[in-house]
Amino acid sequence: MPVTISISTDIDSYEICTDTLEKNTKWLLTASKIKDHTVSVVLLDDAQMAGFNKKYRNKDGPTNVLSFPAGDETSQMFPGESLKDLGDILISVETAKREAQNEKKQLARKLDELLIHGFLHLLGHDHERSEKEALAMWDEEKRIYKDMKHRRRKTMTHLAINVDHVATIRQARGITEPDPVLAAGICELAGAAGIVVHLREDRRHIQDRDVYLLRDTIKTKLNLEMAVSKEIIGIALDVKPDMITLVPEKRQELTTEGGLDVIANEKKIRKTVEKMNKAGIPVSLFIDPDAVQIEAAVDTGATFVELHTGCYCDATTEKERDQEFLLIERSAELAFDSGLRVNAGHGLDYLTTARVAALNTIEELSIGHAIITRAVFVGLDQAVREMNEIIMRAN
Ligand code: PXP
Repeated sequence: MPVTISISTDIDSYEICTDTLEKNTKWLLTASKIKDHTVSVVLLDDAQMAGFNKKYRNKDGPTNVLSFPAGDETSQMFPGESLKDLGDILISVETAKREAQNEKKQLARKLDELLIHGFLHLLGHDHERSEKEALAMWDEEKRIYKDMKHRRRKTMTHLAINVDHVATIRQARGITEPDPVLAAGICELAGAAGIVVHLREDRRHIQDRDVYLLRDTIKTKLNLEMAVSKEIIGIALDVKPDMITLVPEKRQELTTEGGLDVIANEKKIRKTVEKMNKAGIPVSLFIDPDAVQIEAAVDTGATFVELHTGCYCDATTEKERDQEFLLIERSAELAFDSGLRVNAGHGLDYLTTARVAALNTIEELSIGHAIITRAVFVGLDQAVREMNEIIMRAN
């Protein structure tokens, strides 16, 4: 085990993702080309930290992070050992939380920054000897943080816009206006990276004509959402969208309610994926952020999963929202590490999107309702630009 994470304080497991901390610490060893070393990270409280601060630095009160290099003699390899000890990084979770709040940052980001700071101390960096060294260490911290954050993603997170809601308004009157095809063009002009439509079996909003026209007119990417239905599969193979997203579909629902049960429908889904792959159409599976569904998705041969963000968006307390977010973050990491490409969507709005867009495992966000409803008041062009700005800033 090159990295040990120990927790000697009461922490809410939803607040701190120790798996991510462990992965990031391993990445620091690899990026510093010292994979043959071990390092230990200890999460503690202010009282414990104050004890170490007094004992080893003769300073009163807690601090955010302390590093203890292993020292020359212990960094030798003993018989039977395969790894050298780099040392220990102690982080006070209480101080980290206070600092995160003051600096208006996510706790996870603050912990990563403290981890990097402590790690650089173990490598011999120091900010107390001279101003020059302090500036060099600060620069190095910023550089490493940036590399760490972007290590996974090959591209930025993009915005794909679902224009079903425009078709819903049209169908309410049963006439030709407003046209989702025109809406798609405006979305593209305003900076959308893709257009999403759901051709439902009951044709309650998007019509066949919309899908065919969109195929001919849009310049970005067409993502066709659909159920595993013989009729719609036939249309998809004819239209050849840039990708399809398989979703569960119920007649009674107002919108897609939950993710696909990939395990229960594995045979049907696998067959559809095979057909689409043969036609050169990548398949995404819309699933809940659930490890078991992700593992099943890998087995179907799908290229993408789209993680359902509905529970995160619908959360009514901050704690519940944090818990749901952590599920999305962990599921996105698992899916990415399993070789899937990862999208996310459902219910995202102008307040909930930034946090998801900042995840370095997610390629694309599929957003509809929030943008179309804002467009009623500010216009479609501006509504798209505002959402794009949120995503670009979070990247
Ligand atoms: N992703 C999927 C699979 C969906 O079914 C929907 C809703 O049509 C969305 C994303 C977009 O959700 P919303 O309209 O709430 O932004």
